[in-house]
Amino acid sequence: MERLLVTGGAGFIGSNFVHHLVEHTDLSVTVLDKLTYAASRESLAGLPEDRVQLVVGDIADEDTVDPLVAAHDAVVHYAAESHNDNSLHDPSPFIRTNILGTYTILEAVRKHDKRLHHVSTDEVYGDLELDDPKRFTEDTPYNPSSPYSASKAGSDHLVRAWVRSFGVRATVSNCSNNYGPWQHIEKFIPRQITNVIDGVRPKLYGSGENVRDWIHAEDHSSAVLTILEKGSIGETYLIGADGEKNNLEVVRLILTLMGRSEDDFDHVNDRAGHDLRYAIESGKLRQELGWQPQYQNFESGLADTIAWYQEHEDWWRPHKDATEAKYAQKGQ
Ligand SMILES: NC(=O)c1ccc[n+]([C@@H]2O[C@H](COP(=O)([O-])OP(=O)(O)OC[C@H]3O[C@@H](n4cnc5c(N)ncnc54)[C@H](O)[C@@H]3O)[C@@H](O)[C@H]2O)c1
Repeated sequence: MERLLVTGGAGFIGSNFVHHLVEHTDLSVTVLDKLTYAASRESLAGLPEDRVQLVVGDIADEDTVDPLVAAHDAVVHYAAESHNDNSLHDPSPFIRTNILGTYTILEAVRKHDKRLHHVSTDEVYGDLELDDPKRFTEDTPYNPSSPYSASKAGSDHLVRAWVRSFGVRATVSNCSNNYGPWQHIEKFIPRQITNVIDGVRPKLYGSGENVRDWIHAEDHSSAVLTILEKGSIGETYLIGADGEKNNLEVVRLILTLMGRSEDDFDHVNDRAGHDLRYAIESGKLRQELGWQPQYQNFESGLADTIAWYQEHEDWWRPHKDATEAKYAQKGQ
């Protein structure tokens, strides 16, 4: 494998993956990205031009996708509409990009017989009760709650069907909540960090008891590369780093790490249908493919992330006012 097509590589996790590839492999990479509001060319700035090329285009456009897939050895598919809150406001781009876009990629890899890795989320499994000792496994039934997670669930089913019906050489991964550099400040952790930088009190949805299983984006990247290199065709792998924390704990930790009182935050309206708890059992990936997360300690990963946002204000500042104005309209 020499040439990799990475869809959504100008977004949060995709750009982390492209940086990871440049550092840890000799692959040359083409990023196919529509550059929606969630993307940033600057996330790819400084990467060697002879290794990384950006093509601006839509994954749902067959004329764009087909020749690109034909010209590469494999596709890693990150491109998606990814923000739950936006999917509650207007689901249509989620259906188009996440379902029709994935279908378009699948038809191209089928036609040209290329390897595909499809990146998905643990949100397809719905949520767990707060006091439930269970965690999600590869056998947990799908039970998505939001238009976002339902559209990702639909895309996962398409990939599995194309493997079974047409022999497409694909793997799927479902990962827990990511944090790290280059995450859009509409998302929970960077929104709170940038609020604190601005001297604004962080906002906590509802009581903050909802639990997320946090993983650093660098660990997600190493897991995806491991699956691409060693995963068995047709298999699904759950990716997680045992990082369960409720939102209240996360807000308090951000405040403490940034030198503020841990109670210096406000409660705001909860998100409709807000999933209670996600938790990942990633034993299959660890035991069968030998993957391990590097960031075993959430606090140190969070401290690194806070430092990154403090040092990269030029990257996020242009989006801050518009992002907060959108939340203010919803009382959040
Ligand atoms: N963020 C998380 O915590 C998380 C966890 C597990 C899985 N995932 C999955 O990882 C993937 C990436 O998530 P993210 O958080 O980086 O999202 P993001 O919103 O930061 O990035 C998505 C990227 O896809 C691009 N894109 C959107 N529509 C497109 C289209 N029609 N054609 C081409 N490009 C398009 C955007 O421009 C953007 O660069 C998604 O598939 C998501 O479901 C995310």
